[in-house]
Amino acid sequence: MRKRFLLIVCAMLMLLSMDTSAKTLVVYYSYTNNCRDIVNTLTSETEADVLEIQPTEKGLKYEANGYALGTKLLNAIKDNPNSASSYPAIDPVTTSLNDYQNIIIVTPLWWSQMAAIMQSYLFTYGPQMKGKNIALIVSSASSGISGVVADCKRLVPDATWAGDALWINNRNRSQTASLLTQWLATQNFQSASDMTNIHLTIGGKTQSVTLADNQATKDLVRKLQDGPITVTLNSSGGFEIWGPLGFSLTTSNQQMTAQAGDVVLYNGSNICIFYGSNSWSYTRLGKIDGLSGNELRTFLRAGESNIPVTLSLSNTTGIRQVDADTHDSGDYVALNGMRVQHPTKGIFIKNGKKFIK
Ligand SMILES: Cc1cc2nc3c(=O)[nH]c(=O)nc-3n(C[C@H](O)[C@H](O)[C@H](O)COP(=O)(O)O)c2cc1C
Repeated sequence: MRKRFLLIVCAMLMLLSMDTSAKTLVVYYSYTNNCRDIVNTLTSETEADVLEIQPTEKGLKYEANGYALGTKLLNAIKDNPNSASSYPAIDPVTTSLNDYQNIIIVTPLWWSQMAAIMQSYLFTYGPQMKGKNIALIVSSASSGISGVVADCKRLVPDATWAGDALWINNRNRSQTASLLTQWLATQNFQSASDMTNIHLTIGGKTQSVTLADNQATKDLVRKLQDGPITVTLNSSGGFEIWGPLGFSLTTSNQQMTAQAGDVVLYNGSNICIFYGSNSWSYTRLGKIDGLSGNELRTFLRAGESNIPVTLSLSNTTGIRQVDADTHDSGDYVALNGMRVQHPTKGIFIKNGKKFIK
């Protein structure tokens, strides 16, 4: 009884300590219930909403006659992956991805590829996952999942991968709960308040910007979580390139002397990036990392007009297929995947063990 009370208190503390601005959605398809079981265990370990994808045609036997139907569906996609008509019809989906920053895809493997029904969902909705943190769990009998990872990359081309995919198979299925706990601890489900830098891309070159810690940068990161934004800036006054963002951020204007490399907000909705210096009342957004004065002038195309500047969040390089139990960072990690240096409240994982603070 006392133990149960403690667990409830811990769960409440954990919810209080989580950043509710970064909601998680688990999307899954399951034919023989293995993925459904994984999702049930997953949602007992982490706070998430669940969306089940269903084929429009019910009662089909994908495995009958030597897996004839499953094979036929996958071959149709393989033959023409860019046509919507290659993908089997699914029931209408009403869940809006706008509400979620983290998406966990749970899918069966069919003939070393992603099950056709899940491919149908991602063909339509994958492009809407641009800039979101995407994680992948694949269930197979025994086959390796690299083909499914490749399908996921093709169908969700602009994802920010939260980490390596988790492979659950007949050999390790009985350890699903602990595999999920360890895997969650390796996934990077960042929220707006965690981001400390963004990227600027001009003429194919990309530079990191260390963000100031204020509401304007949090607003900006939230915007960029929906995907990169390109603005057109013009050189002005011999010290900056500047122009409208197309939206407003929360201001905290201060009289300051902006220096080369500084990125500021002017009048609530304009971005100014400096290659020289100017005194004015601005809201600080951040500073371009590690460029000298001349390098800044070249990068920012000082003196030019109509300069396309793309603002984006940093992307990881991709996802790989690994066994989950080989991972251990040595850091404390909250159950929602966020790394924490000095944990105060909640349940944390370190070296594969649970700690309750
Ligand atoms: C059409 C079809 C093809 C499959 N192909 C493979 C395969 O190539 N390799 C494998 O290990 N498992 C294969 N399986 C087994 C599933 O990947 C495995 O049972 C998975 O856990 C099913 O998940 P579910 O129960 O959520 O549908 C296949 C299953 C079906 C229905």
